[in-house]
Amino acid sequence: MAIRPILKMGTPSLFEKSVPWPANKFDSPELHALLADMKDSMKAATGAGLAAPQIGENVRVVIFEVINNARYPNREPIPYTVLINPQLAPTSKETDLDWEGCLSVPGMRGQVARYTTLRYTGFDQFGKPINRTVSGFHARVVQHEVDHLDGVLYPMRMTDMTKFGYTEVLFPELVGVEED
Ligand code: NI
Repeated sequence: MAIRPILKMGTPSLFEKSVPWPANKFDSPELHALLADMKDSMKAATGAGLAAPQIGENVRVVIFEVINNARYPNREPIPYTVLINPQLAPTSKETDLDWEGCLSVPGMRGQVARYTTLRYTGFDQFGKPINRTVSGFHARVVQHEVDHLDGVLYPMRMTDMTKFGYTEVLFPELVGVEED
């Protein structure tokens, strides 16, 4: 179990499509070790979520959790979730625009349009199916993390680059909270 370096934008592997986690490798030492490293790395950086490619493993595994997160104050809590081989299905065409950050794009925030509500399915670390319908920040975080599995970082989704900037300028109250 280790805190691993989080790859930053510019690293070619962050732009690759990740492969599914093998169905015969749920509840394996290999998967539990990967998840332990991901959780340690996410928590050390105060992230709301982390995708395996961010620590250099191009497999379709993400984790997320928001409980009193200093980088995302005043956001509704999201329970700790392990989501493997996820599929997303928006439940309406409605989108909303809101701020995002990313541990692979440190010190910056940008406004990104995301589906407001969606259903996500996939598996937990034991191979148990997950099926949730979520909205708001939870829906946003899932879309952001699953994008990492397809080689997409949030700036690539942005349409108004005047809404992209340094956290210290946009959200001075978060200075000292950001990891870098
Ligand atoms: Ni990210």
